[in-house]
Amino acid sequence: MPKPAFDDEEEDDTYLRGGAVAAKELLALRVGLVLCFAVALSASIAVMGGRACRASVYDPTAVPWAELGSDLDAFVASCNCAPILVRLSWHDSGTFKKEDSSGGSRGAQRFVEGEATHGANNGLSVARGLLQPYKEKYPSVSYADLWAFAATRAIKVAGGPQVRFRAGRTDIVSAASCVEEGRLPDGALGAPHIRSVFHRMGFDDAEIVALSGGHTLGGCHADRSSWAGPWTDTPLRFDNRYFELLLECEWTQRTSAKGAPVWLCEQYPDLMMLPTDHALVTDAALRPHTERFASEGAAFATEFAAAFQKLQENGHPDLVDIL
Ligand code: HEM
Repeated sequence: MPKPAFDDEEEDDTYLRGGAVAAKELLALRVGLVLCFAVALSASIAVMGGRACRASVYDPTAVPWAELGSDLDAFVASCNCAPILVRLSWHDSGTFKKEDSSGGSRGAQRFVEGEATHGANNGLSVARGLLQPYKEKYPSVSYADLWAFAATRAIKVAGGPQVRFRAGRTDIVSAASCVEEGRLPDGALGAPHIRSVFHRMGFDDAEIVALSGGHTLGGCHADRSSWAGPWTDTPLRFDNRYFELLLECEWTQRTSAKGAPVWLCEQYPDLMMLPTDHALVTDAALRPHTERFASEGAAFATEFAAAFQKLQENGHPDLVDIL
């Protein structure tokens, strides 16, 4: 695996922890010296704009975003890989916990251990591999920003809305900072599970339904999850077809080849819905949003873009506009 682009070394805070100092005057002198030193240090940091002393801090303004964006657009247009790039960003961000600001988009899947091994992330090594050449070509970008940025470009190239992108996500430097397994949703469960996962990140019902519309893209793969097949008949196009199909079909519960519950519809035998998708029509509070997004494609595009930006920015209060 590639080495972290930078290191966050912890500062040594053992200064002045030595033996007891008998004379009070000596102690006062030492405290005075330390204060002088601190004042001088902060003055020099101010003069240097805090940069020279913090050379290892990620600087998103050093990334040539316009060039990177053009490269990604051309790549997405040729690779048919928009869906998996969107999934990568969502899974990097979707571990966020509002309560303590843990998790969130931090490039956490780039280590051999930790989040890359979580079952929900099966198959995402493909997406990470697809983006690695861009990390090598643009080494000044953090993985977390690269993955988030690529998803916004993928959505746009697939015909979806422009998700506002702001930069400055610092990567974690080791798998030790990964979150525990179980923060991402389980497709076999229903509305209470979806709510508990998305409320943990700070999303309400309308945002849950808008974000679930990410399944307008792509599909399931038997070697990566318990299901197989796309959600819509246009899996490379970002539109509101997912919501139309949820309402249009008579969905019947079946069991997938791998023994998981799945919803199928006679009219479109190649398509499927996970129990978490199907909950968007059966839950009384979620359904009105499903109906709204099925009949108003523009509302879906607008609300998806806002919710996806929030998802990508959760836990990062200091992002900067770069384009
Ligand atoms: C209740 C919430 C969710 C559950 C349970 C869920 C579950 C899944 C599963 C099981 C897969 C199939 C993986 C595979 O076999 O390749 C998948 C794929 C995908 N998910 Fe979700 N997901 C959820 C929410 C989201 C959200 C919020 C987004 C984005 C906004 C999203 C975007 C995608 C995309 C684009 C794919 C297709 C990937 C591909 O074709 O390779 N999902 N999801």
